[in-house]
Amino acid sequence: MAKYFFKKIVSKKIFVKSSSLADETFVRDLRNNKKLRKINFLKKKVSEKEHHGWFTGLLEKNYSYTIFLGGTKVGHIRFERTKPGIFLIGLAFLPKYSGQGIGPVALKKAFVELRKKEPCAEIIAEVRISNLPAQKFFLKVGFKPDYFVYKIKI
Ligand SMILES: CC(C)(COP(=O)(O)OP(=O)(O)OC[C@H]1O[C@@H](n2cnc3c(N)ncnc32)[C@H](O)[C@@H]1OP(=O)(O)O)[C@@H](O)C(=O)NCCC(=O)NCCS
Repeated sequence: MAKYFFKKIVSKKIFVKSSSLADETFVRDLRNNKKLRKINFLKKKVSEKEHHGWFTGLLEKNYSYTIFLGGTKVGHIRFERTKPGIFLIGLAFLPKYSGQGIGPVALKKAFVELRKKEPCAEIIAEVRISNLPAQKFFLKVGFKPDYFVYKIKI
C-alpha cells in the first residue's frame, strides 16, 4: 500500500520536456557518468566538442526528452530514427534516481509526446546481456524480445 502511494505521488512529479540546448551540459554529464559508462555501449568519455555535434544533431533530426523530478533534471530519453517509422531508444537516469520506478512513468510520458509527432512508431531497444536492470525494465514496460545479436572479433 505504501509503495502504491509513493509511486502515485512521485509519478505526478515526473515531467518530460522536449530537450533544448539548455540541456546540453546535463546530457553530456549523463553520457560521461562513470557508473553509466560501465554498463552502456559508450565506454570512452565524450569531449565537449563531440557532444555538441551529437546533441545538436539529435535535436535537429530526432526526438530528445529531458526528464525532471520536480524541478531537478534526473534523466534523458532519446529516439533516433534508423528507418522511416523505426526508432532506436536510448535512455538513462542519474544512478541515484535509478531503481525508484521513475523510468516506467517517464517512458510512458515520453511515448505520449512522441506519438503526437510519430503516431505509428516502432521502438527498438538494444541492451547488453550484462545489463539486467535494463532488461527487467524493458520487459516491465511492455517491450518484447525479438532477436539476438552475436559478435566475434577476428
Ligand atoms: C534501465 C533504467 C533506464 C531503468 O529505469 P529505472 O527508473 O531505474 O526503472 P525501475 O525503477 O523500474 O527499475 C527497473 C528494474 O531494474 C532494477 N534496477 C534499477 N537500477 C538498479 C540498480 N542500480 N541496481 C540493481 N537493480 C536496479 C530495479 O530494481 C527494477 O527491477 P524491479 O522492477 O524488479 O524492481 C535505469 O536504471 C538506467 O538509467 N540505467 C542505466 C542506463 C541504461 O542501462 N539504459 C538502458 C540502455 S538503453
